[in-house]
Amino acid sequence: MQRAASTLRQSPRVVFSGIQPTGIPHLGNYVGALRQWVHLQDAEPNSKLIYSIVDLHAITTPQPPEQLRRYKREALAALLAIGIDPERSTIFYQSAVSAHSELMWILSCTASVGYLSRMTQWKTKLSLKADSSIEDKTAASRLKLGLFSYPVLQAADILVHRATHVPVGHDQQQHLEFARECVTNFNYAYGPHLVSPQTIIPPVHRVMSLTDPTSKMSKSAKAEKSRILITDSPMEIKSKISSALTDSISGITYEPASRPGIANLLDILSIFDHQQRTAADLATAYATSSPKQLKSMVSEAVIEGLQGIRERYRELLDVNDGHLDRVAEYGAEKARRSAAETMDLVRTAVGF
Ligand code: AMP
Ligand code: TRP
Repeated sequence: MQRAASTLRQSPRVVFSGIQPTGIPHLGNYVGALRQWVHLQDAEPNSKLIYSIVDLHAITTPQPPEQLRRYKREALAALLAIGIDPERSTIFYQSAVSAHSELMWILSCTASVGYLSRMTQWKTKLSLKADSSIEDKTAASRLKLGLFSYPVLQAADILVHRATHVPVGHDQQQHLEFARECVTNFNYAYGPHLVSPQTIIPPVHRVMSLTDPTSKMSKSAKAEKSRILITDSPMEIKSKISSALTDSISGITYEPASRPGIANLLDILSIFDHQQRTAADLATAYATSSPKQLKSMVSEAVIEGLQGIRERYRELLDVNDGHLDRVAEYGAEKARRSAAETMDLVRTAVGF
């Protein structure tokens, strides 16, 4: 018997999001994604919140096993340190819940290779041109199936928990559109069993690199001074912000195109501003300040905004009493139960 997806959809929202374990999160990850995960814990008391450290996705870029193990623990410690509460939210390693891989296989049987080949991430990761196709020689020789089908696994992450809302940065919108496409394809073939998720885009700007303010702050940039890690000490924060690239124009104005360095600092200040002023408001308020004075205000604001995170993070990693492992297993157990409900429906629908 087929039930309509709408009758299966829980009326409270189900929120799902994921982060790759690829190093300690930086200020961009924090304000662009993670801070919102914490915020939802209070803002949406009735929503089911599920957050995953996506280690299956991480091996699309091959890495030494010991490094992956360390990055996973660091990511878990970072999420707890910023305030994710394992009782309130389900927090788990993706590879601990095999339903994610199982649903991925099933989705891949109705997913279009043509659609996947038009997506941008595999081309960016292989430094190929935007108009490259899988038939091009260089692409065909370097592209692995896992990197190509990365979006199918991401769709499975979301759909296996019947997520209704997915908070992600702008760069992930294409993957969310593809997840909805997977729902359409599956439901067309097998009946209306999967729920189509909506994207929630955080209201904040992208945080730009401190050393090259025309590109976004990223984990992979060579210059360590280009990013502030959420575990940086006040000294490190001060030093990185004081050496941020600005310009030699006097006074403070908010002109992202012509003064990207100053604009980035104003954006960061606005993110942590108690009065919730916009970057343009702040530029007016501090019009006659020097870049040095602006940098010192930004340092103070960031130090205050990240206060306590570093200490909690170090304690979680240094006290090796099995706490992180217990939190991970507790979350995995909850995630397995959540995924099993969907897999029962899906398996029956497919004919297993
Ligand atoms: P990534 O580090 O690229 O795996 O990104 C993890 C999450 O952080 C995604 O939702 C991104 O959109 C978000 N994010 C990454 N870098 C930035 C940035 N510089 N500014 C704002 N959000 C970011
Ligand atoms: N691809 C996402 C990123 O790189 C991480 C991710 C994996 C994710 N699965 C997800 C995000 C499901 C949201 C929902 O940031």
